[in-house]
Amino acid sequence: MPSDLSPIDKAKFAAAKRATQYVEDGMRVGLGTGSTAAWLVRCLGELVSEEGLKITGVPTSARTAALARDVGIPVVSLDEARWLDVTIDGADEYDGNLNLIKGGGGALLQEKIVATASDQMVVIADISKQVEALGAFPLPIEVIPFGWQTTKALIEETLIGMDVLGRDVTLRLNGDAAYVTDEGNHILDLHLNRIGNPRQLSLVLNQIPGVVENGLFIDICDAVVIGYGDGRVEVRDINEGTVEETRFDFLETDNLFSDIAE
Ligand code: 5RP
Repeated sequence: MPSDLSPIDKAKFAAAKRATQYVEDGMRVGLGTGSTAAWLVRCLGELVSEEGLKITGVPTSARTAALARDVGIPVVSLDEARWLDVTIDGADEYDGNLNLIKGGGGALLQEKIVATASDQMVVIADISKQVEALGAFPLPIEVIPFGWQTTKALIEETLIGMDVLGRDVTLRLNGDAAYVTDEGNHILDLHLNRIGNPRQLSLVLNQIPGVVENGLFIDICDAVVIGYGDGRVEVRDINEGTVEETRFDFLETDNLFSDIAE
């Protein structure tokens, strides 16, 4: 591992490396999106090319599909795979119940479909993603472009009756234009500061016409693998109620990840 990596990248790498232990020969694996998930894809690619691991990957975005192919992971669509053994993905926030906010990278729709179609979802993260209550990170909502301003107004009206601390809703931009997801939709970011009842909010938001999906992942994640900059890794399993700690001794000669782009 290159010694010039920042502590945060070392933490992401450590979490990703530990999470590869969830993957076994013959598995169908959901591949998440984002900078932490990119470390995982690289780690799995190394196992495929150097140790003959046989897996099929189902990517959650065009970006991840390209990276997976690049590192030699055979990729199929979710329709081809149908059901997955495990999905490993990053998160923007996780709470004590392992409920999540996802979608900072704009891929929440595919991520939620793929994670839900998996026997197990494992989140990989550094400790900065841990929160007591969800909502400091703006909650992404995927909406169809048709009438998005009306959808935004309906969301704002709905938020008045919800247990949240902030109510600003902004259209995500890519430069001067609206951000467009892999599904051709837009993203509204909800600046809520604190979400009192994530389960209720998720249900209510998905009732609004024009909302395709929201970035709250409730009762979907089974375990979180938390990496630290010194190589320590903590695994919390919500079903088993266990917390396990390990540590990786990074090899200074391992330069596999030196060109990581995200
Ligand atoms: C993409 C996501 C990502 O998992 C989330 O944004 C975390 O990204 P990163 O690992 O880069 O912090 O939900 O839609």
